[in-house]
This record gives sequence, C-alpha cells and structure tokens, in this order.
Amino acid sequence: MGLDKKYETGVLWQDIQHRQLIDLVEQLSDSNADKADPKMFTYTTAFLAMYITHHFNLEEQYMKVYEYPDQDFHLKEHQHYIAMVKEFRREHTKFSVEGALFLEKSILGWILDHILENDQKLGDFIRREEKKRILAQDS
Ligand SMILES: [Fe+2]
Ligand SMILES: [Fe+2]
Repeated sequence: MGLDKKYETGVLWQDIQHRQLIDLVEQLSDSNADKADPKMFTYTTAFLAMYITHHFNLEEQYMKVYEYPDQDFHLKEHQHYIAMVKEFRREHTKFSVEGALFLEKSILGWILDHILENDQKLGDFIRREEKKRILAQDS
C-alpha cells in the first residue's frame, strides 16, 4: 500500500518506516470495522511498542547529529507517547472492543498527528541539512 502523500516527509527511511505504521493502522481499522479481532489487537499493541522504540531512536539520532533546533520538544513528544503506550498496554492486557477502538482512534491517531506536525518539520530540516552537506562536498 502506498504512503498517503500527506504523510510524506521526503526522507526515505522516515517514509518507509511511517508507511509500516500506516499499513498497520489500516489493517486495524479494517478489522475493527468488520468485527474487532483479539489477535489483531494483541499484534498491534506488541508491534507498536517495538516500533516506537526503534523508530523514535532513529529520529532522535538524526536530530542529534544534525543539531535539530527543536529536538527538546520533539524528544518530549516521543517520551510522552512511549509513556502513553505503556500505560495503555498495562490497562489493556486483555482484548476488549472498547480497547480496540481506543487503540485505533486515540493511540494510533496520536502518532499520525505527530507525523503530520513534528515529523514533517523534522523531515524538512533533514532534507535541507543533507542538501547543504552535498553542496559543501561539491565545492
Ligand atoms: Fe517523531
Ligand atoms: Fe516518525
């Protein structure tokens, strides 16, 4: 499934990883629309916990290396989300229809909004920095 243009940051690794997440959101919402599936619920929460650890870490490394001016704020957002997912998993060790809907709307909704606001700003910055570096090499 292609990445909806509106989510693109233009940074390849970021777009590939975001697409994985968006595919998952679509799968979950299809399953919720049909008949919320306990297996899909468990898979999504486990995947999400693993994914954010890895994905946030990579974004944070780029912020550090490129000295991203907004990194404190962006980092705080990531930490806030990690805590939010942890709490959700603690409170929803068992499947429930309400839990599955909350996961789709609120938990996954949060990270989609994060892509649209903060990750796109970061993506613009990374692209500008990389361009500068390429130009510097040429001269
Ligand atoms: Fe981010
Ligand atoms: Fe991201």
